[in-house]
Amino acid sequence: MLLVYPEFISKRAEILSNLLKIKSIPIKIRYFPNGEVLARLLATDAIKNQNILIYFPTYPNTNCRLNLLFQTLEVLNEYGANEISLIIPYFPYSRQDKRFLEGECISLKLILNIFNSLNVTSLITINPHNADALINYSKNIKVVTLDLFSDLLNKVLYQLKNRDTVLIAPDHGRCADVKNLSNIFDIDYICLKKERDKYTGKVTIQLEDDISIVHKTLLMIDDEISTGGTLSKASKLLHNKGSTDVYACAIHLLLIGDAVDKMSSSGIKGIFGTNTVNNPYSILDIEPYLADGITSSK
Ligand code: R5P
Repeated sequence: MLLVYPEFISKRAEILSNLLKIKSIPIKIRYFPNGEVLARLLATDAIKNQNILIYFPTYPNTNCRLNLLFQTLEVLNEYGANEISLIIPYFPYSRQDKRFLEGECISLKLILNIFNSLNVTSLITINPHNADALINYSKNIKVVTLDLFSDLLNKVLYQLKNRDTVLIAPDHGRCADVKNLSNIFDIDYICLKKERDKYTGKVTIQLEDDISIVHKTLLMIDDEISTGGTLSKASKLLHNKGSTDVYACAIHLLLIGDAVDKMSSSGIKGIFGTNTVNNPYSILDIEPYLADGITSSK
C-alpha cells in the first residue's frame, strides 16, 4: 500500500506514513491566476496495480481542495491504481445531508456519487455530522467512521480536574452522543433544544427542563464549532440560568472568523477539541486513530 497526499499536509502525512510503515507520494499543486488549480502526482511509475491510501483533509479551502481531490482520483485511475482508500478527517458538506428547502442540492450525496464514479473503494472519516446519511449515500464505498468523542472527553475531564461536571448537548442532533458519553463516564447530561430558521439561519436555543445547573461545571459537546454561534448562544442561556463555569468541546474546531472572541464574550472559559482541522486548541492528535482504523479495517 502507498500513501498519497497533497503537499500542503506533508508533515501530517509523514506522521501517518511512519505509523503505518508505508511509503508516501506527494501531489504537487499549481494555482493559476484565473483561479483554476492543477494536481500532479509525482512517482506515477509506482501506482500501477498498487492499493492506494489517500490522506486528503478538505478543510480549509474546501471547494478548491475537493477539486484537487477529484483530479487526484482521476489521475490514480488513469495510472492503474488498484483499490483506492480515502481518508478525509472532517467530511465536507456533511451538514447538507438533505434537501432543507425545495430546489436545493443534497451536496453530501453529490460528493459521494463523484467518489463512487472515481472508484473509491473505502472511506475513513471522523465523527461525521450525520453518519447514517453518509453511509446511506456512499453506495459501493465501504465507510469507516471513527468516533473520538470518548477519548476526547477523557482528556477534557482530566484537564478540568474531574470537577462536578454536567455534559450539555446543544441540540437534538448531538443528544444521542452526549447520552452515550454520560453512560460511559457516569456523568449527568442535559440536551438543549436548538432551532435554526431554514431561510435566515438564525438559531434559538432553549433549556427545556427546569434542572439546577448552579455550582456545576458545564461542558458543552458538539461535533463541530464553526462560527461559534451555537455554543455562544448556549453559553449565554446557561449563564442566564445561573451557571458561571462553562466550557466547549468539539471534534472539529473550525473556529471561523471571530468565533473564539464570540465564545469568550459569551462566558465560555475554555475550548477543547481534536486536530481534524489545524487549530490551537487541539488536545487530541488524530493520526494514531487513523492508523489504527486503517489497520483494523483491512
Ligand atoms: C449543527 O447542527 C452542528 O452540530 C453544529 O452545532 C454547528 O455546525 C455549529 O456551527 P456554529 O458554530 O456556526 O454555530
